[in-house]
Amino acid sequence: MATILGSVMTSHVPAIGGAIAKQRQAEPYWKPFFDGYPPVHAWLGRVQPDVAVVFFQDHGLNFFLDKLPTFAVGAAAEYRNADEGWGIPTLKPIKGDPALSWHIIEALIGDEFDITTCQEMKVDHALTLPLALLWPGGGDWPVRVVPITINHVQHPLPSPKRSYALGESVGRAIRSWDSDARVLVMGTGGLSHQLDGERAGFINKPFDLMCMDALVSDPRKLTRYSAMDLVREAGAQGTELMAWIAARAALPGHVTKVHSNYHIPISNTAAGLLVLENDAAALSKAA
Ligand code: DHB
Ligand code: FE
Repeated sequence: MATILGSVMTSHVPAIGGAIAKQRQAEPYWKPFFDGYPPVHAWLGRVQPDVAVVFFQDHGLNFFLDKLPTFAVGAAAEYRNADEGWGIPTLKPIKGDPALSWHIIEALIGDEFDITTCQEMKVDHALTLPLALLWPGGGDWPVRVVPITINHVQHPLPSPKRSYALGESVGRAIRSWDSDARVLVMGTGGLSHQLDGERAGFINKPFDLMCMDALVSDPRKLTRYSAMDLVREAGAQGTELMAWIAARAALPGHVTKVHSNYHIPISNTAAGLLVLENDAAALSKAA
């Protein structure tokens, strides 16, 4: 059966794409952010994933206010990046894993999740920039992906509890997949930020740090918050935290924290990074 190696959760601020393109990683503004990633590269080099199942958000690229699925799963052979309005360079297409996508879709429907299945899906900064942070250099992506979006755009949003249940179901599906694939689960977005309205620029460091701790040792604690609680505590776009919650729920139990980083601000966002290794996985790569 497939092995879940662990999870990487990271912010996905569009400006990161500009900083990479202009090679600004060592500039004082960006250095504390990009310095978070070399330990992730070392861990990925050790565990060598084949596939990444990515919980993220569509920011208006595929879905808009007229039609907005609560949860959508990609089942394409390839995903193309498009710029949904930030003016950042588009990155290389990413290979999909239709067999794993359909296995996950079957399992989710079996668990009574009314998801939207997407045989074509464009991907925005929320999927591509985390990949570029994890595998820098512009070469071919070393992983196939299964993209799973969670609505954070149009209310009513799903609850953290429902996002957690989604992640649990996806985790069970991966672990029941008849394959020797090594699977990384990613959650992108967050942490606290609000891009518009009266509280534009809102950041809540104590709440973010509490969430990062809870994701390691007591992730169910976060299911006690409603979506509107998250809006209040983390800002309107801080609801992207639900992708981190789903990713954590896909890991079966006890995890070891490999690495974390937290830096305020990157653009309007409190930038977070968390790497969790799944204690249940036999992680030594076969020679
Ligand atoms: C910003 C953050 C996001 O998560 C996003 O999707 C767009 C913009 C920002 O802080 O600029
Ligand atoms: Fe976002």
